[in-house]
Amino acid sequence: MTTVTTGELLELAEKNVKLAVVEDMAEQFEEAYKLYMKALEYAGIYLFYENNPWLKKQNRQSFLGHYRRATKIRGRHHLHGPSLSKRAESGLGLTESNAKLSDVGGLQACKDVLVEAAIVPIQNPQFFTGKRQPWKAILLYGPPGTGKTYLANAIATETGSTFFSVSASDIVSKWMGESEKQVSILFQRARDAAPSIIFIDEIDSLCGSRGENDENEASRRIKTELLVQMQGVCNDETNVLVLAATNTPYALDQAMRRRFDKRIYVPLPDLKAREHIFKVHIGDTPHNLTETDFEHLARRTQGFSGSDIFYCVKDALYQPVRATLNAQFFRKTSKGKWVPCKRTRQGATEITLQELNAQGLALKIQLPPNTRADFDKMLARQKPTVSEADLKVHKRFNKEFGNEG
Ligand SMILES: Nc1ncnc2c1ncn2[C@@H]1O[C@H](COP(=O)(O)OP(=O)(O)O)[C@@H](O)[C@H]1O
Ligand SMILES: [Mg+2]
Repeated sequence: MTTVTTGELLELAEKNVKLAVVEDMAEQFEEAYKLYMKALEYAGIYLFYENNPWLKKQNRQSFLGHYRRATKIRGRHHLHGPSLSKRAESGLGLTESNAKLSDVGGLQACKDVLVEAAIVPIQNPQFFTGKRQPWKAILLYGPPGTGKTYLANAIATETGSTFFSVSASDIVSKWMGESEKQVSILFQRARDAAPSIIFIDEIDSLCGSRGENDENEASRRIKTELLVQMQGVCNDETNVLVLAATNTPYALDQAMRRRFDKRIYVPLPDLKAREHIFKVHIGDTPHNLTETDFEHLARRTQGFSGSDIFYCVKDALYQPVRATLNAQFFRKTSKGKWVPCKRTRQGATEITLQELNAQGLALKIQLPPNTRADFDKMLARQKPTVSEADLKVHKRFNKEFGNEG
């Protein structure tokens, strides 16, 4: 039996996507469909095994774009081909839901603009007549970890549009050689699949100021092509929205900056938003935090980004596991569950996790709920990752070039 590593699975998936796109462009739809499905099978299984949630989200979004394209081809050309295995489907997240807009803390102004740009024109196209046109290109900028990528993914799940997600560094590194062509294919496919959204994450890595020393010929060509394509979607009637995100807005040159008809600042979360982010990331994990505890956590995390909070929560949620691993005493609850407890607690039995497991009681062990102390412990060690200097740069850009926030 041969085994394939997850890295190889991803490579196979990407190779087949490339082949599929070529057939697709050549209008060999039956062949294209087969290749897409082959790619998706590999990708789905890769995503199924790969447990890095970040990678998962990024890759999943782009493969979902291919999936929609493949289903469209199948429908349009009445093809009967292979369909996806259950495992591939679950890897691609076709069976579960993704980030929701309501999970994004704060950023009300950004959400409003995105809803205006991405959802209203699709649900109520009749509003946009004459000179009233939807936004065509939106730039999200702000310090790292403030939820730009997260927001874009939430928009993807909540709109009915086809979502193409590309990371700019992907374009540069992987498509080198035929990159400009890939950019134009991307836009062509977005037009075909309209209404659609093209999300270009970390656009700065594609668009260093023109004429900089380290800018090579290839990336200059990609950038020029991107400018041309964006100009195209701004001027025609097709319903394609370009959404881009960057942590370093000053890295974009003037030509690129001007292409975005909306530039939105994604700031660090304020007090209320931080509270919300804590709640969202704790979700339905059992805990005994009160409203006052949440307010306390929000006050304690002044200057934290959403991602700082996310990591703090992730760590804190692990505390009950650690406590259980190290516990010397457990007690049996009235429901017959074993929970770790202090030596002095009534009914405390001297026993360890290993011993309980060995007695076949693994499923009867219950983790204690998270407490405020779990979070305080994490916060005592953690500092905000965004510096004052960073913030200053973003605020200055916002003043000079921003529209919102
Ligand atoms: N406003 C927010 N609301 C909820 N979660 C957030 C928010 N900002 C950041 N996060 C969390 O931090 C993670 C990283 O954020 P991300 O969107 O990648 O930041 P950016 O793209 O701005 O650098 C997200 O996956 C999410 O879990
Ligand atoms: Mg990001």
